[in-house]
Amino acid sequence: MDKGIGIHIEGLSKRYGAGDTAVDALKEVNMSVAPGEVVGLVGPSGAGKSTLLKCLGAVIEPTQGRMTLGGEVIYDNGWKISDLRVLRRDRIGFIFQAPYLIPFLDATDNVALLPMLAGRPNGEARARAMELLQALDVAHRARAETSELSGGEQQRVSIARALANRPPVILADEPTAPLDSQRALSVVRILNQMARQYQTAIIVVTHDEKIIPTFKRIYHIRDGRTFEEEGEGRALE
Ligand SMILES: Nc1ncnc2c1ncn2[C@@H]1O[C@H](COP(=O)(O)OP(=O)(O)OP(=O)(O)O)[C@@H](O)[C@H]1O
Ligand SMILES: [Mg+2]
Repeated sequence: MDKGIGIHIEGLSKRYGAGDTAVDALKEVNMSVAPGEVVGLVGPSGAGKSTLLKCLGAVIEPTQGRMTLGGEVIYDNGWKISDLRVLRRDRIGFIFQAPYLIPFLDATDNVALLPMLAGRPNGEARARAMELLQALDVAHRARAETSELSGGEQQRVSIARALANRPPVILADEPTAPLDSQRALSVVRILNQMARQYQTAIIVVTHDEKIIPTFKRIYHIRDGRTFEEEGEGRALE
């Protein structure tokens, strides 16, 4: 793997609090995800999954280690980026269990908002939104208010939003938990397609037994330590 791009985490540790009550949530974690690759991050409750995503997403500060995103060192025993807000907005896409769309904006504007905030002209931002809605097979609902969309359509719009600024990295926390088996597999199929098409590195936190067999590579996390395993990589087509 090209060491310059994708996601690279080396010796990453996170301690919450100090003294007797300190919790070592991550203990020298190593992880690499190539552009175009989707990996699973699996582990029991309290293992450190959300902590790892929050560190990578620059939502909380690690205690030590090194993180590289899309060819740039963002953390090396301290942040190496001056504006973490811009990093989160332009370089990282987030997908959550619930879609969290803005109800009074239509599907297109929910997706176009991020490129607009990043300074893209409105026309260009909307064109990019349409392209993504087409790729995700919801373009026919582009002008609908998001409250009028089905659950699966809302989740696809939220995936389009995560891709809107063409981030090198997408972090997904339990994106399929509320979905039935067919829709869960369809979301994973879409994430794999998008990873390939846009050369995005994607981490999916999950304990969803329906989708775990689809990963080619899985990181297990337990008590703050990660172990890499080859997955089944079951075909999605
Ligand atoms: N803000 C915090 N302050 C102190 N300890 C925390 C904090 N956030 C998480 N922890 C602790 O760090 C450990 C890892 O928590 P984390 O939320 O990363 O687990 P998780 O793997 O996401 O679990 P779940 O599957 O339940 O979401 C746990 O022991 C948790 O109690
Ligand atoms: Mg969690």
